[in-house]
Amino acid sequence: LSSTEIDLSQVAEGQVITVKWRGKPVFVWNRTKDQIEKAKQVPLGDLVDPMARNENLEPDAPATDANRAAEGKENWLIVVGVCTHLGCVPLANSGDFGGWLCPCHGSHYDAAGRIRRGPAPQNLDIPPYAFESDTKVKIG
Ligand code: FES
Repeated sequence: LSSTEIDLSQVAEGQVITVKWRGKPVFVWNRTKDQIEKAKQVPLGDLVDPMARNENLEPDAPATDANRAAEGKENWLIVVGVCTHLGCVPLANSGDFGGWLCPCHGSHYDAAGRIRRGPAPQNLDIPPYAFESDTKVKIG
């Protein structure tokens, strides 16, 4: 299967689920207002990787929170769950920046899935996706 449909009504506020897409884990996070605010407040100059890495946008889009979250649905953050260092699966709700921690070599990602500290060179990739309704998203 090249695409995966997800029922978002099962994902509570603050919860992250992991789904499979093309054999890879994809994290789907229903972020709280507080988590979104923290991610928005990060100055772009603090980012290791300034690019959005969002397949739904132009390749040169900057890594603002708005460019990382779903368009018009900023609570939803959907990222490929593969560390951009050497491919381990990062742990949700971990690390020093309110997002993920990769247990392999200590890469910390923030609440927008952006690399903030550690050896990973890039933000977590954002796969192509489309909302089919408020509670249904198709990845791929
Ligand atoms: Fe994630 Fe090395 S694979 S830090």
